[in-house]
Amino acid sequence: MNKIRLHVNVDHIATLRQQRGTRYPDPVTAAALCELAGADGITIHLREDRRHIQDRDLRLIRQTVQTVLNLEMAATTEMVEIACKVKPDFVTLVPEKREEKTTEGGLALDNPDTYANIKHAVVKLQKADIPVSLFIDPEPRIVELSKELKAQIIELHTGDYTLAENEEDKENELDRLFEAAEKVRQLDLKLAAGHGLDYTNVQGILDLPELQELNIGHSIISRAALTGLENAVKDMIILLES
Ligand code: PXP
Repeated sequence: MNKIRLHVNVDHIATLRQQRGTRYPDPVTAAALCELAGADGITIHLREDRRHIQDRDLRLIRQTVQTVLNLEMAATTEMVEIACKVKPDFVTLVPEKREEKTTEGGLALDNPDTYANIKHAVVKLQKADIPVSLFIDPEPRIVELSKELKAQIIELHTGDYTLAENEEDKENELDRLFEAAEKVRQLDLKLAAGHGLDYTNVQGILDLPELQELNIGHSIISRAALTGLENAVKDMIILLES
């Protein structure tokens, strides 16, 4: 089995800081600690409402990251301009709704307006030499549309799998993920996955064909509050390696 890279999403360190308007805890420090604990990359989501990560965090993490920086963002004019200036190692385009607690679904590429909007963003980002990942639901047709849009990486949304309430639903969701992953492999795209993954469910998806990286945030940062960031990252790496 290939080594699966762990990209830790440090957004919720910033959530804690924004909650009280303090200077701490700092996601820049958290990113460095995750890397020291063995993370292969850092993921942050600069949301339009700036509810957690701020522009200053993005700038400083870009300057200090030792591994790779994955910037999650909506395909808006403002965000594309920021990305082209800051130059993360790659961008993951995600749908964004103001009222949601977290990203709720994948990009609806079968909607012509969304397709056109994503196409525009992909062209601009790639012109600035920034590889693009698309966060999509595990549907082979959406994988095909992603290929058509010239995305280099597909991040499959694992949310439905992680929310499955019984074994049958879980198996069905795993089947969907495997089918979509197989399409990603056939189309020669890179495969990532994420959303809702934790210490109890992550191992269920490690056999997805040619899975290369995982983006995991909430569960690692939650565990870190109790056991420290180093332990939380290392505990996850142990699961990915076993
Ligand atoms: N991948 C994407 C595209 C996301 O938007 C998020 C949430 O920011 C994650 C992965 C991480 O999800 P979680 O915090 O549930 O691990």
